[in-house]
Amino acid sequence: MKNEYLALGEELDPEGYLICDYRVKSDLPIETAGSRIAEEESTGTWTRPTTLTEDIYERYGAKVVMAQGNMVRVGYPVIDFSGEFGGVPQILSIIAGNLFGLESLRGVRLQDIWIPKVITERYPGPRYGISGLRKILDRPEKPLIGTIVKPKIGLPPKEFADYVYEAGKGGLTNSKDDETLVDQDFCPLEARVSAVSEKLDLLEEEGHPMIHAHNISTSAHEILDAADIALENGARQLMVDVFTEGFSGVQVLAEDPSVGVPLHVHRAMHGAFTRDPEHGISMPVACKLVRMVGGDSFHIGTYGTGKMHANISEELHSEKALTEEMHGIHPTIPVSSGGLHPGHMPELMAKSGNDVQIQAGGGVSGHPDGVRAGATALMQAVDAAFDGIPLREYAKSHDELRKALETWGYR
Ligand code: 3PG
Repeated sequence: MKNEYLALGEELDPEGYLICDYRVKSDLPIETAGSRIAEEESTGTWTRPTTLTEDIYERYGAKVVMAQGNMVRVGYPVIDFSGEFGGVPQILSIIAGNLFGLESLRGVRLQDIWIPKVITERYPGPRYGISGLRKILDRPEKPLIGTIVKPKIGLPPKEFADYVYEAGKGGLTNSKDDETLVDQDFCPLEARVSAVSEKLDLLEEEGHPMIHAHNISTSAHEILDAADIALENGARQLMVDVFTEGFSGVQVLAEDPSVGVPLHVHRAMHGAFTRDPEHGISMPVACKLVRMVGGDSFHIGTYGTGKMHANISEELHSEKALTEEMHGIHPTIPVSSGGLHPGHMPELMAKSGNDVQIQAGGGVSGHPDGVRAGATALMQAVDAAFDGIPLREYAKSHDELRKALETWGYR
């Protein structure tokens, strides 16, 4: 029986296999390193089990079809993912499980995945995505522009809702809770949602349609209860920190017919496994999974313009993972957030294009004239960049933008 898990050069049927590309760092020959992954994650282990029959190996064994340089491509038969239960936890336990700890591999990074339709069709995908959010906000072309209420924690519900109102009056289309705010005693979920909903109603009456994403990340058994409380109090959008919550937390909300509002997905903690180029999981992989489980918007980075570490080519790849054709699933809108301010807009939008949700927390609330002026300045910068007008020029007739640029500069 051949048990090397090698099928180099074999053309895999993309509907018969979940295909993964790994970047591997190892002292072993690259084919051997690849076969260690395929073996560990399908029918094998460190020795040949006497119970491993030819039939089991042939039917359920993963295959290394490419091993070149430091890259290997492994195909996992779809039957390894069959059955009613398992979901994303099982997918990840196979394609991103024990392999990360194998002593024989000094580093391994899951770079990309291609999930066959027979698997994706079991998941909801985004209900709204880019086109749905544009419709709700009546913003057909330009990027969606949002803020994150700052400080991250500490504001009581009334002051919190006032911030949202001021941001809406400045013209923003979106706002959101920060990733660390859920239901703390100083700003309980119910009181916060109710206060924000009142202000969003007022903004709508005044001609400023806006939505706010309420963070309901919590223990798995409570997330639907948290969603209920938020929805009963008028929530128009919910938010989940997907890596601390788990992909299933997004899925359960996307699948529940009583939820029905767009889901904003934050990536807090991603740097623990995405930042090292030689070990971990890439953001594009996370993007495909978030899209599959139903995230309508997902943070992917700021293309080197903000405060967070960036790998620009990977961010462009993330954008594609969220928006390119994927078995007919709606595109998820990429979110650019983290250390942004008006001066970044031309460079950011040149890289992101217009199908993006841009957000600034400090870059709105830190404006010397307050939140409304900060929001106005951000919108002015986006308008200027959209129309190809240099910020310096536009700022001559737009005071809020001028002050923002004086405060933070152009980079
Ligand atoms: C986020 O949720 O992306 C951050 O809290 C961004 O905040 P900042 O714009 O102040 O960096």
